Amino acid sequence: YHLDIDESATDKGVYPYYMLKEIDEQAIVAHTLAQHYFDEAGQIINIDADIISQIKRADRLYIVAAGTSYHAGLVGKRYFEQWTHTPTEVHIASEFAYDQPLLSENPFFIFLSQSGETADSREVLQNIKAQQFPTLTIANVMNSTLTREADFALPLLAGPEIAVASTKAYTAQIIVQVILAHAVENSGLDLKEELAKLAIDMQTIIDDKEIFKTIAEEALDGQRSAFYIGRGLDAAVAMEAALKLKEISYVQTEGFAAGELKHGTISLIEDATPVFGLITQSKTAGLVRGNIEETKARGANAIVLATQSLSRPGDDYVLPDVNELLAPVLSVIPAQLIAYYSTLARGLDVDRPRNLAKSVTVQ
Ligand code: G6P
Repeated sequence: YHLDIDESATDKGVYPYYMLKEIDEQAIVAHTLAQHYFDEAGQIINIDADIISQIKRADRLYIVAAGTSYHAGLVGKRYFEQWTHTPTEVHIASEFAYDQPLLSENPFFIFLSQSGETADSREVLQNIKAQQFPTLTIANVMNSTLTREADFALPLLAGPEIAVASTKAYTAQIIVQVILAHAVENSGLDLKEELAKLAIDMQTIIDDKEIFKTIAEEALDGQRSAFYIGRGLDAAVAMEAALKLKEISYVQTEGFAAGELKHGTISLIEDATPVFGLITQSKTAGLVRGNIEETKARGANAIVLATQSLSRPGDDYVLPDVNELLAPVLSVIPAQLIAYYSTLARGLDVDRPRNLAKSVTVQ
């Protein structure tokens, strides 16, 4: 499978930065993925039957990736465990490469990558191939090193991603993992329909982007540090949200499990420190609320992003209600926009942050 990079796909058009264009394209990518991986009747297509049978045969899945792709893997783990009932581990490629964990008897490896060229991930792929375990690469750039060298490959179909900070590749990685897990073991959801609804909800948030300009300018002006907190899937998104903000705005941001606050990080909260709380998971919504209150009591400027049914009217930014498992695809978008606008307000180059490369081909 080869994605042709045409003029319009690599042209910023009316956008001041690629990052904003790529954030905007996310609903279209969700739609494209639903079209590519489902037929008219809502049945899975374009996933090699061998991929499905090999995953079924595996006693454990290992997702290996770097950076934003690693964060997408943390979300994907949930689908594989909940729907296919296969224990799933998510690993940072640069760690796995030199400290290979004890593997199960029949492992199956999934490499997640936007570029398909990350040297850390390739090192692991080579090691794993030498051990003759089955491998699948899910990547945006098909015909890349990682897609060519793995046994199987699936495309993210996000189109060229040019801004260093990854946005649409992250949401595409989550969606493809959702689809793959569902292909292995029917989730019971009308997934094609769910994805169509998801794309509409994504677009609603994107159309509402000006509000995040205001939030970013008010909350982050003059701040040197910030926090994203959540539990469960929201904790995984918090990590990606923090990466977005820190990598382009240079605001030192930590994203982590809300329950860990009291075990150390809360000591960093000062007057007006921005704390972004993510609340999309009903099981832990009350607990995260409590954690947010604790930061407020220490002077934090708390901003809550919550799905409608878990929100407090008036206080929160309200995200459309969605199947809770799919919420990461929505809740990350405000974080992307907050990162974008705070970087813009600081007069920095959104697309080309200092010291970073889009694709890291050295270990
Ligand atoms: C670099 C990029 C990140 C990306 C990471 C992994 O650090 O700046 O945005 O998440 O590499 O890249 P990959 O292409 O493998 O997803």
